[in-house]
Amino acid sequence: MNVLITAGPTREPIDPVRYLTNRSSGKMGYALAEAAQKRGHSVLLISGPTSLDIPEGVDFIPIESAEDLYQAVESQVGRMDIAIFAAAVADYTPLSVADQKIKKSGDELTLALKKTKDVLGSTRGAMGFKGTLVGFAAETENVEENAREKCIGKGCDLIIANDVSQKDIGFDSSENEVTLVYKDRSEALPQNSKEHLASHLVKVIEQL
Ligand code: CTP
Repeated sequence: MNVLITAGPTREPIDPVRYLTNRSSGKMGYALAEAAQKRGHSVLLISGPTSLDIPEGVDFIPIESAEDLYQAVESQVGRMDIAIFAAAVADYTPLSVADQKIKKSGDELTLALKKTKDVLGSTRGAMGFKGTLVGFAAETENVEENAREKCIGKGCDLIIANDVSQKDIGFDSSENEVTLVYKDRSEALPQNSKEHLASHLVKVIEQL
């Protein structure tokens, strides 16, 4: 099958030397790309900047901003059977990007931000995607309830929910503990390495 995976953080430029970003190592998305490739799928990884090596045999599109990510997904998703959105996309981006480096002046600086496009939330509707759609949800409270709302609201087949209030897993860690949240049921998976989780998740997603 053709599988699209988004991964890593986005970078939202403030001026030529600064940006806003999200805390994301990209490990989960890259592990999914590698696992899907090893199971014989044709994989396209669309990723923000990370320090990881691109898994062998995986096609790759590098992106920086949420807008870049939107455009890359929009241009590629039509030929995909499965789309998995593991990228940590900035929800807001500077309203305008300064042409020159912003110089220090007063004691306070206010940045005006505007909402980015919701890539996952546009895939079913605006992009007309008919395949299997899987999102991630990073939650600090009411994990299942919030994830189910995202699953239904964004037309996903599955949301992989992370409780990011737990200190030693998720984010920069090589381990993760997730709950699979479907429209009508959920399943908590035991803590495991991102590699083990990824190969299990690919098998689950293939069946959807
Ligand atoms: N996502 C996306 N485009 C955005 C924001 C998020 O595609 N502009 C995707 C992420 O890749 C992830 C999912 O949406 O798969 C959920 O991200 P999360 O930050 O948990 O949720 P949000 O929809 O941003 O909702 P909220 O911040 O209100 O929890």
